[in-house]
Amino acid sequence: MIKSICCIGAGYVGGPTMAVIALKNPHIKVTVVDVNQERINAWNAQNLDKLPVYEPGLAEIIAQMRNVNLFFSTQVNEAIQQAEMIFISVNTPTKTYGLGKGMAADLKYVELCARQIASVATTNKIVVEKSTLPVRTASTIKSILKQSQNNVQFEILSNPEFLAEGTAINDLLNPDRVLIGGDYHTPEGKNAIAALSEIYKNWVTTDKIITTNIWSSELSKLTANAFLAQRISSINAMSAICEATEANIDEVAFAIGKDSRIGDKFLKASVGFGGSCFQKDILNLVYIAQTFGLNEVADYWQQVISMNNYQKSRFARKIVQEMFNTVSGKKIVLLGWAFKKDTNDSRESAAIDIANYLIEEQAELHIYDPKVTAQQIFTDLEKSTTIPQEELATKIKIYNHPDTIFQQAHAIVIVTEWDQFKTFNYTNIKKQMQQPAFIFDGRNILNPSEITQIGFHYIGIGK
Ligand code: NAD
Ligand code: UGA
Repeated sequence: MIKSICCIGAGYVGGPTMAVIALKNPHIKVTVVDVNQERINAWNAQNLDKLPVYEPGLAEIIAQMRNVNLFFSTQVNEAIQQAEMIFISVNTPTKTYGLGKGMAADLKYVELCARQIASVATTNKIVVEKSTLPVRTASTIKSILKQSQNNVQFEILSNPEFLAEGTAINDLLNPDRVLIGGDYHTPEGKNAIAALSEIYKNWVTTDKIITTNIWSSELSKLTANAFLAQRISSINAMSAICEATEANIDEVAFAIGKDSRIGDKFLKASVGFGGSCFQKDILNLVYIAQTFGLNEVADYWQQVISMNNYQKSRFARKIVQEMFNTVSGKKIVLLGWAFKKDTNDSRESAAIDIANYLIEEQAELHIYDPKVTAQQIFTDLEKSTTIPQEELATKIKIYNHPDTIFQQAHAIVIVTEWDQFKTFNYTNIKKQMQQPAFIFDGRNILNPSEITQIGFHYIGIGK
C-alpha cells in the first residue's frame, strides 16, 4: 500500500487534486512541490483568501489537511526521494518556438521532471502522468527514466484529470470516471495500476475506475476535451444562424438537449470558450494528426478553434455595430474577466480578445471581476497587445468593487457568467448610465424581456 506521494506542479490541477487525495487518504503523506516559491508560499499562506487557486470548497480542505498529511514545498528532490508514487502535474502549454510552434504541446517541463526523477530517485517509483500529454509521451518518459544510474525500477501510468475549474472540488469528489492507463500485460504494470486504483477506491466506486492501455488513456484525454469544445463551437455556430433568422438559441439548445442521445449539458451558447486547455489540447490534436499525415482529420478539428475565434470576434464586432458603428471615447463596462464563473483563472479568457478589440476601437474600458486581481487583468492585456504599458493604463480602469463602475457608462458587456451579475439592480444602474443604454449579454444570463422593460437596448447571443 502506498504511504507517500509526491506531486510535481502546484497549479490548478496539482493543488486541488492532491488536496482531495490527502483528504480521502489520511494514511498517505502527500507533498506537492513546485519550483515557483511564490506559489508555494501562497499555498502555505495563513490567510486562505491568498491561496493561488480559487475554487469553491478548496480552502476548507486546505485548512483541514494542510500540515496534517498535505504539504506544500519547493524541496523537489527531497519529495521525489521520499515518495513511492510521483504525479507529474506540470504545465504543458502550446509551443511558442521551433518545430510545431503554435500547435504542438511544449513538453519541456515534463521532460525536466522525468530527468530530475531519473537522477534523484534511489528507490522504485510509480510515475503517474497527470498533465495532459500527446499520445505516446509515456514512451519518452520511459526512455529518460531508463537512463537512471541508481538501479531503480520505474512503472509509468497515465491518469489524466477531467476536473473543470470552478467545480474542481465537486468534480474530484464525484468524478464521472477515473481513467488509469498502464501496462496491464505485465505483473509490474498490473501492480502499479492496482496501487493507484486503491487510492481512488477510498472514495470512488470500482465501476467508475477504468483501466486502458497507456496510449488509449493519453488519447482519451485529448479526445474528451476535443468533443467538449466541439459541442460549444457547434452551438455557437447555430447561434449565428439564430441571430439571422429570429430563432432563439436557448430554445434550440433546450429542444435538442431533450434527445437523450444528444443530452442537455455543455450546450450553452456563449461569447466563445476560454481556459488554458481546450484550445491548447485541440491544437495539439491537430498537430498529432498532421504528423501522421492525417490532414483531413487535422482540418476537421481545426474548425472547432476557427469557429471559436469567429464567435469572439463576431460578438466584439456586434458591440461596435449596435452602438452606431463607433465606440471611440465611449465608456464601456466589462463585467467579468475570468474564463468562466467561480474561478480566478483568466488564461485564454474571451474577455482578453474582446477587451483588445474594443481598445483598438478607442473605447474606454472599465473592468470588474469578483476574483481576478487588477494586476492579473493588466498583465493579460499587456501581454496580448502592442500598445505600450503607459498608454494602456490610460485606456482601462479596473475596479475592486462594482459600486461606481456604471456612472455615465454607454454600455455594459457581460463576458463571464458570475451569479452576482444576475442580481444587480439594473433599474438603478440604467439611471446612472448615458442613454440609450446598452447591455451586451455574452452569456445569456439576463432575462431579455425584463431588461428591455427597464429600457435597456439588450443584445444577447443567438437571439
Ligand atoms: P499550472 O500552470 O496552473 O501549474 C503547473 C505548475 O507546474 C506551475 O506552478 C509550475 O511552476 C510548475 N512546474 C513546471 N515545471 C516544473 C518543474 N520542473 N518542477 C516543479 N514544478 C514545475 O497548470 P495546470 O492548470 O495545473 O495544468 C497542469 C496540467 O494539467 C496541464 O497539462 C493541463 O493541460 C492539465 N489539466 C489542467 C486542467 C485545468 O483545469 N487547469 C484540467 C485538467 C488537466
Ligand atoms: C475543461 C473540461 O470541461 C474538463 O473536463 C477538463 O478537465 C479541462 O477542460 C482541462 O483539461 O483543462 P475547464 O476549461 O476548466 O474544463 O472549464 P469548462 O467548464 O469546460 O469551460 C471551458 C470554457 O467553455 C469556458 O470558457 C466556458 O465558459 C465555456 N463553455 C462551457 C461554454 O461556452 N458553453 C458551455 O456550454 C460550457
